[in-house]
Amino acid sequence: MKRLVILISGRGSNMEAIVKACAAQGWSAEVAAVISNRPDAGGLQFAAQHGIATAVVDHKAYSSREAFDAELARVIDGYAPDLVVLAGFMRILTPGFTAHYARRMLNIHPSLLPAFTGLHTHERALEMGCKIAGVTVHFVTAELDHGAIVMQAAVPVRAGDDAKSLSARVLAAEHQIYPQSVRWFLEDALVWDGDRVHHRDGMAQSLFLA
Ligand code: GAR
Repeated sequence: MKRLVILISGRGSNMEAIVKACAAQGWSAEVAAVISNRPDAGGLQFAAQHGIATAVVDHKAYSSREAFDAELARVIDGYAPDLVVLAGFMRILTPGFTAHYARRMLNIHPSLLPAFTGLHTHERALEMGCKIAGVTVHFVTAELDHGAIVMQAAVPVRAGDDAKSLSARVLAAEHQIYPQSVRWFLEDALVWDGDRVHHRDGMAQSLFLA
């Protein structure tokens, strides 16, 4: 039985999608804990209601990123996870922390990387007049929103879209590709080729939603 620890900062809809897929698809894995850096993160309630251990490591209580990351790693490692899943976890991580979880920590970012790293991805895509938007699941490295891409989904930008309508369309894609990516990791289906990752059996690592 493999163990997951999921980190959130807010509503936790991606965490929810992963918890539900794990149960519905009978993964040989369990979500050992959901950890938030915000005491008021909405997703903590869902996790607790589903019998999952929850913890809060409030970044405001630490004087440096290093001190926060050290405590966060201590709490995470207490659950002995095989994989750490960042699901809307909105903190910049220190190189020591990312190195500690090298090749065993995933993130989801709401753009087609390498476009639009950082914040406000949908606003920036709309401002640029992009006709396609999307989402990327990738392994976490020291460089923000870089690291080997596991899966990407593309969605159309429609006339009249605003950040709210576009983010809702992208979020539906997130809920498909994040559970899928986590499942592949747990099944040892992801194969490293240098610093890139592909699926062992050549399964499509891209999804196109009309
Ligand atoms: C998601 O859209 C995720 O892609 C984004 O935050 C949202 C969290 O939603 N992550 C980032 O922007 C990371 N830089 P959720 O809490 O409902 O899963």
